[in-house]
Amino acid sequence: MKVTAVLLAAGKGRRLGEKKQFIKLKGEPLFQYSLNTINKIDLISEIILVLPEEDLDRIKVFSFKNVIKVSGGKERQESVYNALKYIDGSDIVVIHDSARPFAVEKMFIEGINNVKSGWDGSITAIKARDTIKRVKEGKVIQTLNREELYIIQTPQTFLFNKLLYVHEKAVKDNIVGTDDAFLMEKYGYNITVNEGSVLNFKITTKEDMILANCIAKGRSPF
Ligand code: CTP
Ligand code: MG
Repeated sequence: MKVTAVLLAAGKGRRLGEKKQFIKLKGEPLFQYSLNTINKIDLISEIILVLPEEDLDRIKVFSFKNVIKVSGGKERQESVYNALKYIDGSDIVVIHDSARPFAVEKMFIEGINNVKSGWDGSITAIKARDTIKRVKEGKVIQTLNREELYIIQTPQTFLFNKLLYVHEKAVKDNIVGTDDAFLMEKYGYNITVNEGSVLNFKITTKEDMILANCIAKGRSPF
């Protein structure tokens, strides 16, 4: 089974104030961390790196595997869809946010194996540790059952044909989701979870960047 990885690095970084995928962490741009991890996974045969159009030629990548650079879209979903159009003859696709530099090989491998064993998709997740409540206009209205709550991360792994189908359908139906699993769930596909980590957090704000620097410094080189 041919597996393609899609690494998303076409965001604007509005909440952080700059394109976070290019910020250097211990001398290496953030997106390169995920590339290094994906490079170590034998199951993955090619990588589609999605970049902002204006950075496409400028950005240098280091990879043993074949990397195809493509330009992203306005929304994350559009960036994924652009990447899917470049995939030819793959059975499985693994999508990962470059804003999560500390994903580990196991997360990709478990996801791929879950899909190989019959699931339409597998998403990286951790069980909610905190109590989560719904609050409306300052008033607490409900305490959710923590046993059923998971915090969702990437990588997210899917059967390629089905993911392409839901993306095409979402364009027609005018539906936008914050992750790919949302579209798959919406159209009735069976998605499972694979084990994530607190360290696999998404760099969103300046605070997250401080945390990422601390983690990178305390870590052996990749
Ligand atoms: N992403 C992308 N194309 C977009 C938007 C996001 O490839 N049009 C990627 C980002 O580069 C990031 C991941 O999707 O790796 C998750 O998105 P997010 O954390 O929201 O990053 P940004 O969109 O860059 O940040 P912000 O929402 O604060 O502008
Ligand atoms: Mg965003």
